[in-house]
Order: sequence, then C-alpha cells, then structure tokens
Amino acid sequence: MQSVLITGGAGFIGQNLVHAWCAARPADRLVVVDAMTYAANLRSLESKIADRSILFVKGDIQDAALMRRLFEEHKFTRVAHLAAESHVDRSIADPEAFLQTNVLGTFTLLRAALDAWRAAGTLAHSRFLHVSTDEVYGSLQSTDPAFSESSPYRPNSPYAASKAASDHLVRAYVETYRLPALITNCSNNYGCYQHPEKLIPLMIIHALAGKALPIYGDGSNVRDWLHVSDHCMALMAVIERGRVGETYNVGGGNERNNRDVVGLICDALDRAFAIDTGLASRFPSCPAASGNSCRSLISFVTDRPGHDRRYAIDATKLADELGTRCSVNFDDGLGQTVQWYLDHEDWWREVTSGAYKTWIDKNYGFRIAV
Ligand code: NAD
Ligand code: TYD
Repeated sequence: MQSVLITGGAGFIGQNLVHAWCAARPADRLVVVDAMTYAANLRSLESKIADRSILFVKGDIQDAALMRRLFEEHKFTRVAHLAAESHVDRSIADPEAFLQTNVLGTFTLLRAALDAWRAAGTLAHSRFLHVSTDEVYGSLQSTDPAFSESSPYRPNSPYAASKAASDHLVRAYVETYRLPALITNCSNNYGCYQHPEKLIPLMIIHALAGKALPIYGDGSNVRDWLHVSDHCMALMAVIERGRVGETYNVGGGNERNNRDVVGLICDALDRAFAIDTGLASRFPSCPAASGNSCRSLISFVTDRPGHDRRYAIDATKLADELGTRCSVNFDDGLGQTVQWYLDHEDWWREVTSGAYKTWIDKNYGFRIAV
C-alpha cells in the first residue's frame, strides 16, 4: 500500500490517472493537489471525494509551506507530478505563469519531497514521477527518426522551454541529491476530460456549434496521438517498475497531420448524426444536422509562431524494459472521444463558460483565414 500525491489531478490527464489508479490499486491512499486553474474540473472526481476514496486539496504547488505540511501529514511514498500550465498558445500569449508553475512549482515540490524523504529515511523506496512532454525535443522534419530518450533538448515555445527547465531540475535533483525521480516525455494525449482549448475537443465543439474549424497554417503539422488511457497505464508502470534516474518516452505510434485529424473528427460527427437522429435537434447549427458534412466548416488560419512541424516518439525503451505498449488504435480512440463529447454536453458547456470565451476571442480574434 502506497501513500500517493497526484499534482494537477483535476486536469485532463490527472483526472484520468486518478480513475486509472483507483481501479488498478484500490488499497493505495491518494491525495490530489490542484490549484483549480481554468483548466481544472472536479466533476468526475466528486463521488470519489465524497466517499473518501481520495482526498482533494485545493492548493498551489508553489506554496512551499503547504507542500511541506502535506508530505509531513500523509507520508507520501509516490508522487505523480502533473500540475502544469499546458497550452502552447497561452504560453505564447502570456509566458509568465508557465515559468512560475512549471519551473518554480516543480522546484518547490522537488525540495519538499527531498526534505521529507531524507528526514523520514524513506528515500530508497520512494518515487517521484515527473510527467513531461515530447515538445522539449523540438521539431522533426518528415524524414527524421522519432524522438528517443537521448534526443537533444531544443524547446521552441515558452511552454516547451518551461517543461525542459523542469526536466533539467529533476535530473539535477537525481544526480546531486539522489532523489529517486523518473521522467516521462509523452506525445499529444487525447480522450475524455480534455479541455476544449486543445485541438480535438475544440474542433468537436466548434463543429457542433456550426463555427469555423480553425486549422493553423496549412494543417500539415504532424502529432503522434496517444490515448490518455494508454498514457496512464504507462505512467503507473514507470513509477512502479522504472529505473530511478531514467527517462521513458511514451508515444501512441499514431502520427497524423492536423488536416487529417480534423477531417476524421468531421467524418465521425457526420456518421453520428446519421445514426442518432436526436442529435439534429440538440445541435441544430451543426452542418450534419441538415445532412451536410462538418468538413464544410474547415478554415485555414494564421499559423502559430514557432509552430513545430512534427513530433514522433520512439517508445522502444518503455516496451523493452517495462513491457508496456500502447494499445488504442487511433481511429477507434478518436471515434470514442467524439462520442464522449456528444454524451457529455453538460461537462463541456460548464468548462466553456466564462473565462473560456475570453480566451477564444484572444487567440482566434486576430487570426485571419489564409
Ligand atoms: P491540464 O492543463 O489539463 O491540467 C493541468 C492541471 O494542473 C490543472 O488541473 C491545473 O489546475 C493544475 N495546475 C496548474 N497550475 C498549478 C499550480 N501552480 N499548482 C497546482 N496545480 C496547478 O494539463 P494535462 O493535459 O492534464 O497535462 C498534465 C501534464 O502532462 C502536464 O505536466 C503537461 O505538461 C504534460 N503533458 C500533457 C500532454 C497533453 O497532450 N495533454 C502531452 C505531454 C505532456
Ligand atoms: P494542441 O492541441 O494545442 O497541442 P500541441 O500544441 O501541444 O501539439 O495542438 C495540436 C496541433 O493542432 C498543433 O499542431 C496546433 C494545431 N491546432 C490548430 O491547428 N488549431 C487550433 O485551434 C489548435 C488549438 C491547435
């Protein structure tokens, strides 16, 4: 039985990890810490908080006194650190929060873990998992080999630079202080509970509202899509069985360009409307409601500055050392994700109220069709 701290547990991957962890290791005690930024949502965790299968603490990972107190009270033996500012476009518009949470917040947490585990004499059997991104490796050309754990760091956005800095700090804590930490660098996740500022949910929700589907540039940028359930399985394998001090890349093995991804989302929606005639009355502004294709909404708009061309992950190390392989086929996973958003309108309506509208105006207001 472990005492587990999950930071950022009210975010997209965090919520999925909490559910996966509770299902796989029901005897563990889970504490979720989250600052409840715009990206957080606790709906899916409410029943677990109410029946005390998890403890939720609203707090900032930069709060050193709070982190210290939580380590003292709960005697964590596992930390899964996911709390972060995570959206590239926001990091371009306003990078400061990224430096604060991703760099200083990670530093505060590393120090709290080291102090607590040293004082308790539990360094040897504790584990700190730092969840990072493939974006630290920069951008690939179409013929380049996929990123491996030894690829050089070449971050191109303030988000990627802040995650790279946090990875370096984690490494330094392993080398200097022997903190038992591990790092994962994963590709783009998709699945349920993803905030609708990110590509896949944004396109689903825009299509349902009959709004333009804004593809940056010419849409040929490639991402390696990883289903969030596969990612969570990999995270649990790495924290339990990974070698301390090592980095493990996690990828979906599903490289797709943005044009194709948006086209597949449109096709999935068109099919759903053809099968479920009730959708037309729920979403009358969607082209599929009147028998037209959602593809008619696709619009190519001003590109993201410094937009990375391609990400691809070589996940051989994870498979060879830990026997962990991703299993969700992209077409199936995308179809299930589209269906999840159709089935959870209340969830995304709540998430996209208020501050979300301000963000959409800020990020898309200046982009013109190209
Ligand atoms: P997310 O933005 O959905 O969730 C992040 C969570 O962290 C939110 O609940 C937010 O409230 C919380 N948070 C932010 N600042 C905090 C602070 N100072 N203190 C405490 N909590 C704070 O992000 P996500 O997509 O779930 O990503 C989780 C982790 O995985 C991040 O570290 C991210 O860099 C990494 N990652 C994500 C992806 C992806 O495709 N989503 C890909 C690679 C890596
Ligand atoms: P995103 O979900 O923001 O993830 P990341 O930038 O971390 O890869 O974007 C995925 C891809 O989709 C990326 O190439 C940018 C592109 N994109 C668009 O074309 N339009 C959009 O409105 C958004 C949000 C992203």
